[in-house]
This record gives sequence, C-alpha cells and structure tokens, in this order.
Amino acid sequence: MPASLPPRPTALAHLLLREVIRDGELVIDATAGNGHDTLFLAERVGPAGRVLAFDVQAAAIAAARERVAAQGWQDRVAFQQKSHALLEDHAAAGSVAVVMFNLGYLPGDSHGVMTETATTLKGLAGAARVLKPGGVLAVVCYPGHAGGDTEAVAAEEWFAAQVAEGWRLAKYGVLATRRPAPFLLLGAKPGLACASS
Ligand SMILES: C[S@@+](CC[C@H](N)C(=O)[O-])C[C@H]1O[C@@H](n2cnc3c(N)ncnc32)[C@H](O)[C@@H]1O
Repeated sequence: MPASLPPRPTALAHLLLREVIRDGELVIDATAGNGHDTLFLAERVGPAGRVLAFDVQAAAIAAARERVAAQGWQDRVAFQQKSHALLEDHAAAGSVAVVMFNLGYLPGDSHGVMTETATTLKGLAGAARVLKPGGVLAVVCYPGHAGGDTEAVAAEEWFAAQVAEGWRLAKYGVLATRRPAPFLLLGAKPGLACASS
C-alpha cells in the first residue's frame, strides 16, 4: 500500500471538501494554526471568495498569514485573533459554504494552548447556524492526548445529535492503532430539497 494510504484525516478533509467549495464562496477556518487549511480554503474560493480564519494565538495567526501571503492570496483571507466560539459575530446565518475545525494544539508548539471542549461545542453550534443549507462541517479530532479524548467524545456526540436536524454524517479514521488515532467528522447540513421533504 502506498505511504499516502490510508490518508491522514487532515488530507482526507481536503480531498472531500475540494469538490464542494465553489469560486466566490464564503468559508471558515475555525482553527487557523500554521495555515495549511487556510491556504487550502483560500485556493478553493478563488479571487472572488472569502476565508474567515480564527485562532486565539498571535503566533498562529502570524504563521498562517505568512503562508497565505506567500501565495499572494492575502486579499482572500480575513484573520481574526479570536475564539471560534465568536464566529457568529463575523458571518450571517446561512451564509457559509464550509467550516473546518482542526482541534488540538499548534504543531511544534509547547501544547500550552489547545482547543477545549466547552468552546469547541460553542463553535460547532455557531458553525451549524452560519452554514447555508447543504453546507459542510469538517472536524478533525485528536483523542490521543489528555483533554483531546473527552473533546473528541463530545464533538462526536454533538455530531450524532444533528441527525435529528436532518444532517448527513460520517466518521473516518484509521483502525487498530496503539494510541487512539485522529479521526475526521464530516457533516452536511440539510439542503433546501431535504428541508422540505
Ligand atoms: C491543530 S492546530 C490547527 C492546525 C491548522 N488548521 C493548520 O492547518 O495548520 C489547532 C489550533 O487551534 C487553536 N485554538 C485553540 N483554541 C481555539 C479557539 N477557542 N478558537 C480558535 N482557535 C483555537 C490553537 O491556537 C491552534 O493553533
């Protein structure tokens, strides 16, 4: 099997979202970190689109900003050094095509700042409201570190609860690892056709 298979959840998220995002759309990176997801989103929305990118850490915003600027795509991204719990202050209900969360801590950092269950759940609830009908929510969870385990359970439970609202949901991850492996939660908000059926 090639080394790229099975894909890491972050790579899989890009693969699955690649076809969903159209030119000119508004999308959100809820955890900008080093900017890999921000860059992916900026490429997909094109020059007429807009990425809102949140991170609580100045160092993360600086790294992500630099990555985006290196491609000349700085006009496509509005960075907010704020918690994703506040994302609804920056996007109207039903206006966003895709929201991505990549939970945990900044790679290479001292792990001092990591996402936390309470704010993650607020961010997910906000994301559900700002997504437009048919919009997609992607969350990469890391159950292998302390705190990440309970956060991953809470995120998965939150996802499962959206079934009652008509969402279509999936979970992707590698099996039989020594430590609990990262996994991707993907949810599609009901579209206009689904909402009336
Ligand atoms: C795994 S990293 C994100 C990696 C990033 N998506 C990338 O492509 O490089 C998680 C990030 O979440 C940020 N974070 C932690 N709590 C947050 C919050 N409440 N709101 C927004 N970002 C937060 C951390 O500062 C960290 O940079």
